[in-house]
Order: sequence, then C-alpha cells, then structure tokens
Amino acid sequence: MKIAVLPGDGIGTEIVAEAVKVLDVLDLKFEMESALVGGAAYEAHGHPLPESTLKLAKESDAVLFGAVGDWKYDKLDRPLRPEQAILGLRKNLGLFANFRPAICYEQLVDASSLKPELIAGLDILIIRELTGDIYFGQPRGRRTAVDGHFPGAEEAFDTMRYSRPEVERIARVAFEAARKRSKRVTSVDKANVLETFQFWKDIVTEVGKEYPDVELDHMYVDNAAMQLVKAPKKFDVVVTGNMFGDILSDEAAMLTGSIGMLPSASLNSSNQGLYEPSHGSAPDIAGKGVANPLATILSAAMMLRFSLNQPEAADRIESAVKDVLASGLRTGDIWSEGTKRVGTREMGDAVVAAITKKTITG
Ligand code: IPM
Ligand code: MG
Repeated sequence: MKIAVLPGDGIGTEIVAEAVKVLDVLDLKFEMESALVGGAAYEAHGHPLPESTLKLAKESDAVLFGAVGDWKYDKLDRPLRPEQAILGLRKNLGLFANFRPAICYEQLVDASSLKPELIAGLDILIIRELTGDIYFGQPRGRRTAVDGHFPGAEEAFDTMRYSRPEVERIARVAFEAARKRSKRVTSVDKANVLETFQFWKDIVTEVGKEYPDVELDHMYVDNAAMQLVKAPKKFDVVVTGNMFGDILSDEAAMLTGSIGMLPSASLNSSNQGLYEPSHGSAPDIAGKGVANPLATILSAAMMLRFSLNQPEAADRIESAVKDVLASGLRTGDIWSEGTKRVGTREMGDAVVAAITKKTITG
C-alpha cells in the first residue's frame, strides 16, 4: 500500500505533519511519499500540479492532502492558481464522490453559533458530486455577447451540465451510504428553475426505486440552506451536485462550530481516494503553530477505512481524538472557557499519546 502525502500551502504542511506522525505510530505496513502541490509546487516547478506529483498520486492507493492557496497567487492566470491542483487531482483521478461528514462532537457543542439543543448529536453526511456540474462543464470562457441584455458587451459564461451516468453513480453512492446509516437520503436540487437539476431529480428518483428500504426526499437548494440552520438534525445523508455541495458543505461544517474538526474523503470507482480536511490553507495563521490538526488526523482515519482497508486502525485514531477532547485539550478554533489551549504540535502529540496508551493498556 502506498500513500501520497501532499501537504500543500499555508497550514497544510503543519497539519499534515501531525497526521503523518499519527499514521507512523500505528505501525502499519505502508509506504508514504511526499510531493509538492499548490502554491508550493508553483514556486518550485512553475505549476500547481506538476507531472511528477500527479504521477505519484495516480500510482498511490490514497492521497493525504493538506490544503492549497494563498492570496498572493490570486493574480496568477487561472491555470496556474493553487486551487487548480485540487481540481486537477479530482479530475485526473476521477474522484467523483465526495464525503463530507458534519458531526458535532459532544465536547464541542458550545463552539457552535447555534443553540446547543439544535446541534447536540448532529451527524450529517453530505455527499457531493465532485467531477461534474458547472465546475468542469464546457464551454466556458469570455466573449462578446451576441444576444442577452447587452449584445456587443463583454461577457463571461460557464456551463452547468450533468450526464445520466454521472447522476446515477453518485445517487447509488448516496443510497448505499444511507443503508449503513439511518436509511434516509435528501437530494438537493434546483429543479424549479434549472433543466440540469430537473434531470438530476428525475434520475435520483429512478435510482431510488432500486433502494425501496431507503426513504428519499427532495429539497430545493435555497430551502436546504435554510433548513440546515433551522433544524439541521432533520438531515441524515444529503446528496447534491458539485456547486450546491460546495456551498452547503461549508454551511454544514460551520454548524458544528469547528470546521477545524471535519475530515473529508473523495473517492473514485476503484476506491482510490483523496483525503483532506474540510477547511482551507488559512494563510492568516500559517506558520504560527496554532492550526487544528484534528480534521487532517480524522481524514487519515477515513483513508484507513475507505481506501486502505484498515478499519480497526481508523477506529483507534477516532477514539484517540475523542479521548484527547475529553481530556480538555483545545486548539484556538475550538477553545472555550475551562479548557486548555494547545498548539498544532501538542495536539498531534496528544493524539499519538492516546493511541500509544491504548495500545499498552489494551
Ligand atoms: C472545496 C474548496 C474547493 C472547491 C476550491 C479550493 C477549489 O472550496 O473543496 O470545497 O470549490 O471545491
Ligand atoms: Mg468549498
């Protein structure tokens, strides 16, 4: 088994280092190889996703990814911007199924901006289609308008599109995931306005007939955004397109008050996966040793479970994280009165210690 380790930019290097430390202490048989990605790769090789990094990712069973991006690259041409690295990896590895759990940890109920009773026990799984939609749809670009409100004016355009197989396969992923949970799926669309999403809704409904044991409902994206803050616990598995999933997954993550806690997995049809925290590169706190490494550590656990077939090792990491939270250690993002503030490295060390202790005491 081989893991490609791509720390990226900003806090990416700090948090990935902690996850690697945790993987090392598990003493499992796999090889890890690091490579540059994002702005770091642009600086060194002139491209955010160099051939060598892509090759390493392709030949690995899993990719452990940190984060990419920094404001200083905002002026680069789009193909050279750090974000293109993650989009390129998704596309080239065919990582169409993105899992973004939003779980409210018991000890962190107070970190949310919502009332504790609304989010205590929250456990939603957002499944976002990741290689289609307006993100990748062609044609796109700039041109002179020939029609519309201002013919002759400059305009920009993107294309929202989904093919039947794309919708079918992500719908199946959602129904299968629901079977392992509370057997409920909410499909989020904009069928009242968009052709693409009426098509999406029709196909999800069709696929749903193959899963009579799973309850399916449909919700418009604007309503879903509202219901997520009104009564988030009513959701279980949410399946949606790339664009809506981008937005709703940030919203869902923040419900828990701690985006620094949330892992994610992006899988292709052969279970090869890319694992990354749900948050970004946070250039404002990069290099300060204060970032929360738990989302990345939990992403490593998802990697062990989904791509490396090591569910026990994944359990060990997750239970160590709970122990560390129970012991009162907190990075700044989840700190509250009465808990102990620690830095990135101390948090990683604490998870390692919790794993080692469990190994010794059984
Ligand atoms: C995410 C991010 C990316 C996206 C960016 C960095 C391209 O926001 O993973 O949600 O839009 O998909
Ligand atoms: Mg996003």
